[in-house]
Amino acid sequence: MHLIAPSVLAADFSNLQKDFDMVNQSEADWYHVDIMDGRFVPNISFGMNIVKIMKQMAQKPLDVHLMIVEPEKYIEQFRDAGAEVITVHYEACPHLHRTIQQIKASGAKAGVALNPHTPATVLENILEDLDLVCLMSVNPGFGGQKFIYQTVPKTRQLKDMIIVKNAKAKIEIDGGVGLQNAEALLKAGADVLVAGSAVFKSENPQDTISRLKAIGKETYLV
Ligand code: DX5
Ligand code: ZN
Repeated sequence: MHLIAPSVLAADFSNLQKDFDMVNQSEADWYHVDIMDGRFVPNISFGMNIVKIMKQMAQKPLDVHLMIVEPEKYIEQFRDAGAEVITVHYEACPHLHRTIQQIKASGAKAGVALNPHTPATVLENILEDLDLVCLMSVNPGFGGQKFIYQTVPKTRQLKDMIIVKNAKAKIEIDGGVGLQNAEALLKAGADVLVAGSAVFKSENPQDTISRLKAIGKETYLV
């Protein structure tokens, strides 16, 4: 069964409690938490103090996506703040293997994110060490962007690599995901769907989460 991870970047920061209550009561599986530093990506979001507050409000695991340079400097701090999954960018890690081991040593699950232009094959020699691969389906930095369709065949390619190696990594898709493309992504092999705007900007966020969760089930009764 696939997982749904609402991206809190699209939540209402003037009333986070309300949106966290909604997600806690929903069928969502994880909270996706985007950390942006204004260097790796052209935008700044928030830091570990806010993650700590989110951890207190969240009744589901925090999936922390580090869009920052030198992420190895902050792994333990994000783990202490409550991260269950820590994902670093391939493009930001010259010593990726070491950084992955560091995340695992912290007790978190280890993920690697790939920008849209980075081929899945760069993970060939590290795939078996990963708990998660996050395929960016937009250029990271902002919520509400248009889904890059090439991510669908890329998902299929990565899924094949995982099967061939008998690896356990989950495939997460991040950016522009919603009801319009979720089925294609799941069919291609996605395990975790991140959805920011599609959830929080919808008329009934909790129902949108249920619908995303129900895709692939035989019937979904409204
Ligand atoms: C993009 C972030 C995404 C973003 C997704 O840089 O990594 O997690 O919040 O937002 P939507 O679903 O609105 O594209
Ligand atoms: Zn993200």
